[in-house]
Amino acid sequence: MERVQVGLGERSYEIRIGRGLLETGWEGLPTGKRALVVSDANVDPLYGARCEAALAALDWTVTRTVIPAGESSKSVDCLSGLYGQAVAAGLDRNSYIVALGGGVVGDLAGFLAASFLRGIRLIQVPTSLLALVDSSVGGKTGVNLPQGKNLVGAFHQPDLVVADLGCLDTLLPREYISGLAEVVKYGVIWDAEFFRKLESDTAALLARDDGVLASTVARCCTIKSEVVSLDEREGGMRAILNFGHTLGHAIEAVAGYERWLHGEAVAVGMDYALRLSVRRKGFDAAAAGRVRALLAALGLPDLSHSDIGALSWSELRKAMSTDKKTLAGIPRFVLAERMGSVAYGCEVGEDELRQAFMGA
Ligand SMILES: NC(=O)c1ccc[n+]([C@@H]2O[C@H](COP(=O)([O-])OP(=O)(O)OC[C@H]3O[C@@H](n4cnc5c(N)ncnc54)[C@H](O)[C@@H]3O)[C@@H](O)[C@H]2O)c1
Repeated sequence: MERVQVGLGERSYEIRIGRGLLETGWEGLPTGKRALVVSDANVDPLYGARCEAALAALDWTVTRTVIPAGESSKSVDCLSGLYGQAVAAGLDRNSYIVALGGGVVGDLAGFLAASFLRGIRLIQVPTSLLALVDSSVGGKTGVNLPQGKNLVGAFHQPDLVVADLGCLDTLLPREYISGLAEVVKYGVIWDAEFFRKLESDTAALLARDDGVLASTVARCCTIKSEVVSLDEREGGMRAILNFGHTLGHAIEAVAGYERWLHGEAVAVGMDYALRLSVRRKGFDAAAAGRVRALLAALGLPDLSHSDIGALSWSELRKAMSTDKKTLAGIPRFVLAERMGSVAYGCEVGEDELRQAFMGA
């Protein structure tokens, strides 16, 4: 088992990564607690009973609840139902919420834990690659409003993250590959050596090789935890985790969330951010080509995809202005200076924004 410590003073916690942890990853938890395990309709039938059995072995009283799979469950309505479930399960301030699923379950159940009884304990059990390398770490929780994604939320760190790599066996290939976009992001923003390793491990990653996956997920969690430890509440440099997300979010909003998965849109957004980086930060064009080549080898799209080229620039530009990270209508970009090092809060002129999208 790989262990990553997230150092946040009294809110510090451990991320455990390995195969079989649904059974063996719970050491150190107290006995005799009460928990509500929140999962979705895809994940609960696969892993809900195993999770419940492991907690029952600690003499916990466990109630499982299942939400519909998909982003539409990250809603105030669904959250409201979960508050009722938490009351019915008899949870008190010593009880736990266990989030068993992808990022949707993690964000929703995380916010339930952040807000129920003014905050109770949370254990994240991520089952999608995106959740393993990104959403289960760092404490951002929340739900969407009809007006936009993640508009209601709270920072609430888990007590423990139990990442059983065996869960990835059942993840659909497209979901898995989408998660790899965030993996590539960590190399570009923080660790050039890790990026080189990803280039040489491409085939093993696509084959979901256990050893390579364990070290890759652990490195991503370490990088995210280092960034979060430096800036837990996104006062500044935590923004670097949004590399590729400014255009990525706009693509999701304009093309529709059904057309592109988050990681796919982020892959295109990273290509865009790198084009801006070459122009504005003197980022090496050959290195940008290596990122594009790695994305392609992993089966991820870039700006040259015909469905992206067909999107209206003015709609994308408008969507970028309404992004949460935008200040006074001016989008701020994370741009790369060299492989493994980025700057945040960068403003870019209108002409350059458009030209980079057009590939000029
Ligand atoms: N909190 C954060 O820091 C953070 C960071 C990034 C993304 N997010 C959020 O994460 C969400 C996206 O997460 P996601 O991509 O995991 O989406 P998701 O939770 O919808 O999972 C994707 C699909 O895979 C299924 N699934 C998950 N694990 C599975 C498994 N082991 N086997 C089979 N099917 C499985 C789910 O049921 C779903 O259909 C978005 O809402 C996004 O806003 C949050």
